[in-house]
Order: sequence, then structure tokens, then C-alpha cells
Amino acid sequence: MLLFKKVEQLQKHLKTVRNDLRTIGFVPTMGALHEGHLSLIEAAANRCDFVVCSVFVNPAQFNDDNDLESYPRIPEKDIEALCKSSCNALFYPDVEEVYPKGWTSDAPTDFGYLTQTMEAIHRPGHFEGVAKVVKRLLDIVQPDELFMGQKDFQQCAIVTEMLRRLKMPVEVVCCDTIREKDGLAMSSRNLLLSDQERSKAPALFKSLLLAKDLLDRVSVPEIEQKALELQKLAGFQPEYFSIVDGHNLRPVTDPQQHNFIVACTAAKLGKVRLIDNLILRREF
Ligand code: PAJ
Repeated sequence: MLLFKKVEQLQKHLKTVRNDLRTIGFVPTMGALHEGHLSLIEAAANRCDFVVCSVFVNPAQFNDDNDLESYPRIPEKDIEALCKSSCNALFYPDVEEVYPKGWTSDAPTDFGYLTQTMEAIHRPGHFEGVAKVVKRLLDIVQPDELFMGQKDFQQCAIVTEMLRRLKMPVEVVCCDTIREKDGLAMSSRNLLLSDQERSKAPALFKSLLLAKDLLDRVSVPEIEQKALELQKLAGFQPEYFSIVDGHNLRPVTDPQQHNFIVACTAAKLGKVRLIDNLILRREF
């Protein structure tokens, strides 16, 4: 695997890849890599000739300095995992390389309702930072396909909308969430959980499974209430549990009227904030 810290060197190499008419798949990450990230790399390798992964903890998307500071960073382990994967090139830049002095972002910041609900309410400015870094990284890498996880459902929806709006010739491939055996969605933040918190953490997925079980049997507000109760009983401090239309993230009131329904949730265990979601219905 090749390692690039500088934009210029990465671009020089990618030019040779493109000259050979090889397609480029791109997997942006913030590191502390787990099997979820690695599944995106394998998906990219299955569809593209050359896979680029970036590891960059993007300060612009953190609305809390403590969160940014405590975000896990394990570069040696990441490089080791990537070397064993199908990744062809790692882009591992410094902040100054991604955001050079004098550079200004041309990424859109307002995506209508997509940036007015759920994560956008609880993490103000977060998606502006995500759009800023994803646009910048796409301009650098210029991939044919971009691989992202359904784990961050709202992020996937916003990035897809950004590419559509900017008419960027990049296809977004949204990949399934990889889970631990007990159902907990893999996340870099799981490393921050104490043993006791880790043992309670699967309740987040259980609350989503409960919602799936209750859909069409009880009203949506009742489902949301029962899911929140389950989380609280397990020791979570829930932030939201929302049953939404998967196309536009608008709240669902009558499930019969929707062919794509997703339950999305965020909750804190101690200081660690976890998010997860589950598709309750997809009929198209
Ligand atoms: P990060 O949290 O490192 O996630 C990188 C990618 O891995 C995202 O597309 C995310 O949805 C996906 N991912 C995370 N956990 C997953 C799991 N359990 N199964 C499958 N995929 C999973 O998301 C970000 O970084 C950043 O916001 C980023 C897009 C890199 C911009 O900075």
C-alpha cells in the first residue's frame, strides 16, 4: 500500500491510475479503523480498480473541543489494518494540507430539511464541516465512486444531495452497517466506552429492533416512546429517536404512506455519544 501525506504527490500518482483507464474508489474516514471501515474498502475494491482511503480527523465537523481532543487516534494500527486490506493508497494529511492558509471552502452548507433535523439539531455546524471536508477530499481525489456507511444515514443523505446539486460525476455507494456479535454498530467511539458502558451499549440496537417489531402494530409516537424507555432503562441518556422517511428524513406519521422508513437514534452512555439506525421498511 502506498502512503501519501501531500496532496500533490497523491494527485501525481492518481493521474497515472487514470491514464491507465483504471477506476478509483474512495473511502473517507477519520481513522481508528474497524471492520465497518474495512468493509467499505472491500466494497470499493469489488467495484473499482484502485482504492484510496483517507484518514483525517476533521476539526471542522466537531462542535465540541473535548470531543475533538478525545477522538481516538491510532495511526500505526490503522496503517497495519490497511496494509492487510484491499486499500491501494492511504491519504493521511495534516490539517494544513487539507485546509491550507488562504483557502476557502466552496461547499454548500444548507441542504434544506436534511440539515434541519436529528444530528443537525444536536450537533450544530457538524454537517457544514462534513460537507466542507468531503467536497475538499473529492476535489483532491476525484474518484469515480465514493463509499460511505449507512451507519451515518443522515450524512449519506446529505453527501448524496451535495453531489447531485453540484452535478459532480461521482456515484455514492451506501454500504450496510457492520455490527458486533451483540448488535452494537461498530464505531471508532466504542473504544471510549468503559467495560460497564460497553455491556449496556447493545440496548441502542435493541431499541431499533423494537421499533421494527412494533411498526404497523402501534402508533409512531408510541413506538418512539417505547424505544426511548428501553434506552433509558439500560442507562442511556437519549437525544432523539425518530422514525423518518428514508428519502427526505421527514417524520413519518402514517407508515402506510411510506415505502422507505428508517428509525434513527442518538444517545449518550456516560460521556460517549453513539448513533445508530435501522431500515424498518424498504419497498422499491
Ligand atoms: P468515520 O466515522 O471514520 O466513518 C467513515 C465511514 O465509515 C463513514 O462513511 C461511516 O458511515 C462508515 N462507517 C462507520 N461505522 C460503520 C459501520 N459500523 N459499518 C459500516 N460503515 C461504517 O463518517 C466519518 O468518519 C466522517 O464524517 C467523514 C465522512 C470521514 C468526513 O470527515
